[in-house]
Amino acid sequence: RVPPTVQLVLFGGGGDLAHRKLVPALYDLHREGHLPAEVDVVGVDMAEMDDGGFASFACDAATSLGRFFPKDAANQDWDAFEERLAYVQGDVTQAETFERLRERLDALAPDGEAPHRVFYLSVAPFLVEPIVRGLTEAHLLDDIVRSRIVIEKPFGHDLESARALDRTLTETIDESQVYRIDHYLGKETVQNMLAFRFANVLFEPIWDARYVDHVQITVAETVGVEHRGGYYEGAGALRDMVQNHLLQLLCLVAMEPPVAFQADEVRNKKVDVLRAVRPIAPDRVHEVAVRGQYGSGFLGGAEVPAYRAEPNVDPHSTTETYAALKLEVDNWRWHGVPFYLRTGKRMPRRVSEVSVQFRPVPHRAFPAGADEAWQPNRLVIRIQPDEGIVLRFQAKRPGPSMLLHPVAMRFDYDDAFETPPEAYETLLLDAIRGDATLFMRADQVETAWEVVQPVLDAWADSPPAEFPNYASGTWGPAAADRMLAHDGRSWFEPL
Ligand code: BG6
Repeated sequence: RVPPTVQLVLFGGGGDLAHRKLVPALYDLHREGHLPAEVDVVGVDMAEMDDGGFASFACDAATSLGRFFPKDAANQDWDAFEERLAYVQGDVTQAETFERLRERLDALAPDGEAPHRVFYLSVAPFLVEPIVRGLTEAHLLDDIVRSRIVIEKPFGHDLESARALDRTLTETIDESQVYRIDHYLGKETVQNMLAFRFANVLFEPIWDARYVDHVQITVAETVGVEHRGGYYEGAGALRDMVQNHLLQLLCLVAMEPPVAFQADEVRNKKVDVLRAVRPIAPDRVHEVAVRGQYGSGFLGGAEVPAYRAEPNVDPHSTTETYAALKLEVDNWRWHGVPFYLRTGKRMPRRVSEVSVQFRPVPHRAFPAGADEAWQPNRLVIRIQPDEGIVLRFQAKRPGPSMLLHPVAMRFDYDDAFETPPEAYETLLLDAIRGDATLFMRADQVETAWEVVQPVLDAWADSPPAEFPNYASGTWGPAAADRMLAHDGRSWFEPL
């Protein structure tokens, strides 16, 4: 249920994420009628702006990046939305900023029921603590039920700093008030993995080590580091993508069925998967983890620069822009089934998919030569783009003799449904409603750090000798192919 009165405060309200994702998502929610009638959206940032300046910033964001074009003459919707916008300029390390924020929020709040307040922290990690302190001292987080904070990733820089941040947060506020966001969990295709697995009888009985040979999770991007070199240099692909997005996908593929679709129940089942991931021994890191950095190359018909030549990147940078891992989940269901994860920037195509490769049939009774093209069954969950699910199986090729041929059954979102909402729309609405199911609990984030920490440590101790080691427009370093070849497997060419 959406509370009747909501005040949403965007720290970093004048920033990049607000412009690209948050404001367009809020406007789209407004257009769809999902926001409560009494809603205020208050931007907080250092930039010198007044309410009008913030409204122009928001209009520009919604116009260029929202799903609905806001400003045609007949469009009353934008005016109604614009009326809900306000801006507080200030330095979040200063207590007086929070005093002014509280005064503004109180003045905007309608008489009657106290509003729900959602504080969205789209800021650099070092500002999280000062903001939480400022909000607490201004008594803006006193109401455990009606006030919450949403924290953008990266949540910590490693296991130790994530734990320290969690300790600070729980000293001041209740864990139930903290919404750690991983925007992949808001993607419809990612949420659909639960529906697909647990609302159908067909797949779950074969979803285990008896029938599954291995699983591949690929998140490939064509973009380079863009203008985010300053952040990315200190992060790299393992922190930026694997610790959060890819491990969350792994959880959804591997988790046990929840008893109820409730926040803690779903999160318990997911954290069980991470706890079952076999810890990577320091002396095995080189066998199960591969890093890469893109060099220059050709992509989309144009020459693109090497990572080391990107703005705000050290010309001798050792930051990885590609990471691949082999993980094993030590529990009954997944005993002996490897999960191969890979992600990289400047890959040939933007594609994210989860491939479940089933085992071969135990006995092939077909005549000699019939099954030359035979392939084991594979289920591909396509997360983006061309969202859908594809099941590969064998068919008889029409003709006088028995010849097997792989074919595919395909479900396309576009054919079945209308345009799905953006991930940030889903997650913002959930934060407004106070539904934490799709957000990360402290133990999930920390356990995910535990999984990658041995690799982070090993990589920090031994700088890569051969960076760059893959050309832009290719599928990553040769070492990643060797890692699978060692197991007698290879990466699938994405569909
Ligand atoms: C972000 C990462 O979390 O996810 C970016 O910081 C990455 O580096 C982005 O580009 C990918 O998100 P999407 O939704 O485009 O797959």
